Amino acid sequence: MSGTISRNLSLELVRVTEAAALMAGRWMGRGEKEAADGAAVDAMRQVLNTIEMEGIVVIGEGEKDEAPMLYTGERVGCADQPKVDIAVDPVEGTRLLAQGMPNSIVVLAVAERGTLYMWQDIAYMEKIAVGPDAAGAIDIEAPVETNLVRVAAAKGVDVSDLTVVILDRPRHEEIIRRVREAGARMKLIMDGDVAGGLMAAMPGTGIDLLMGVGGSPEAVITACALRCVGGDMQTRLWPRNDDERQALVDQGLDQSRVYSIDDLVTSEDVFFVATGITDGELLKGVHYFPDGATTHSLVMRERSGTVRYIESTHRLSKLRDLTNVPFD
Ligand code: FBP
Repeated sequence: MSGTISRNLSLELVRVTEAAALMAGRWMGRGEKEAADGAAVDAMRQVLNTIEMEGIVVIGEGEKDEAPMLYTGERVGCADQPKVDIAVDPVEGTRLLAQGMPNSIVVLAVAERGTLYMWQDIAYMEKIAVGPDAAGAIDIEAPVETNLVRVAAAKGVDVSDLTVVILDRPRHEEIIRRVREAGARMKLIMDGDVAGGLMAAMPGTGIDLLMGVGGSPEAVITACALRCVGGDMQTRLWPRNDDERQALVDQGLDQSRVYSIDDLVTSEDVFFVATGITDGELLKGVHYFPDGATTHSLVMRERSGTVRYIESTHRLSKLRDLTNVPFD
């Protein structure tokens, strides 16, 4: 059955993100990004290795030399089928978590082997993303104002009703000015453009579109989520300096090329799972109580089109006995 995923992995995968969130949540507001990330990575890896699959981490914590676990190329899982690509962000928004701010999440995407794309050496991409109600309305080559008018028309609202989520960075000064001049509302976020893209795609968040430059791995992970719900995203590689421009040329890549969701993820059977660490618009964070905690997760599968929100109550002492994760 190589090449297809015959089993629904959703509930197995959500145990991975739940475990990571339970461990990382203890670090909320403690100012220690690395420790929080390390706790999430350890838990994620332990639980990933209990799942019957042969996974290769294609988007992970970096190269093997820098990242002892969940490095790019690491094999995870405890069987030889199905063969899958794995993309992880054990803590998306490490600064948010370290400062106790909203919207830090654990994310995991899984798809058939060889279907998640990843660029070497190009860290950033320009992105525009919307939910299914504005799919087909965006054009990354068009001016900001045109995109706002088109998205508003697709949603049947005025531009002044739209809310755009943008990473608060000096590089976005011009986009921010133009969105303001066009009269749309804006949510500037300190970090976390996977959560930003998810907010734009999911109903009930009050966010209509994501714009701006963020991480390339985050673009691929966001594309997995958007595929599951029929959202839309366009991206372009965004080299920061001459070295990156040269790396792009060396790889035969074109900075002006527009990459759609289908270019970033060629699979038609993607699983996307996220669990909240800190409370946010989309997901509640981890809430602890004596010997337990609650988690809130989003679990989606492209092939079935099912979107599940899962609220779980965990008994930490029982989990400790069942797994190798030192839940505290
Ligand atoms: P981390 O998960 O590594 O903390 O990244 C957070 C993030 O805000 C991403 O969501 C985003 O894509 C990227 O960093 C933006 O990079 P930069 O902070 O360099 O602008």
